[in-house]
Amino acid sequence: MRLQLMAWPEVETYLKRSSGIIIPIGSAEQHGPTGFIGTDALCPEIVAEKLAEEVDVIIAPTISVGMAQHHLGFPGSITLRPSTLIAVIGDTVASLARHGFDRFYFVNGHGGNIATVKAAFDEIYAETSLGTARHNRTNLRCVLRNWFDCPSAQEIEAEEFGDANGRHATAGEVSLTYFAYPEDGARIRGTGKLSPEIAPLGTYYDCDDYRRTFPDGRIGSDPTLATADIGSRLRDAAVSDLAADYRRFLDAN
Ligand code: NI
Repeated sequence: MRLQLMAWPEVETYLKRSSGIIIPIGSAEQHGPTGFIGTDALCPEIVAEKLAEEVDVIIAPTISVGMAQHHLGFPGSITLRPSTLIAVIGDTVASLARHGFDRFYFVNGHGGNIATVKAAFDEIYAETSLGTARHNRTNLRCVLRNWFDCPSAQEIEAEEFGDANGRHATAGEVSLTYFAYPEDGARIRGTGKLSPEIAPLGTYYDCDDYRRTFPDGRIGSDPTLATADIGSRLRDAAVSDLAADYRRFLDAN
């Protein structure tokens, strides 16, 4: 269930039986000419919504803007500085911890968030270890799970797309969003192939460098292969992996 659609007495009742919460986290950044700017926030939301049907858990509001400085060469992209994202995560966790949540299961859709989210977790643990915590909990546990790393989803991507799945604006993530938002997907997907069909691979530094190296925004992918049907299968595969993992997380110390 979504926290935003609950009343506080329901949250209070939930906290008597569980202290776990899922926090989807993503980004608002270009995903090539045929992918939504919200792809990386939408994907963990789509997965989390179904995951909550499998396990008894509340879904927090999505942290939908992340660390995406390298995408600012494309209109519509928004970034938080790493230090801002660390603060957003810290305040979100501290707020929820005050109510009694202590198991924070972040479902992430953006590779560029990983280093910053891990730094945010260490800031939280450092507050506990140094005795300066703003919350009232001593045993907070935060984990980060990237939906795109789920082995069952990766198997489907390998079968359906092979190397054309790519690294950014992947055929898999675009499929997942076309599944959840078919009308908007039909609008942006266009017809015909992109040029080159499979985008280049490579490294990048700042946003100007990124745009020079990857002129249409993709890295290594051919997202014209994306279909809603594959997206539906990817969602179910990721949910199955994450449901088992979430249960293990709650059972651990
Ligand atoms: Ni993405």
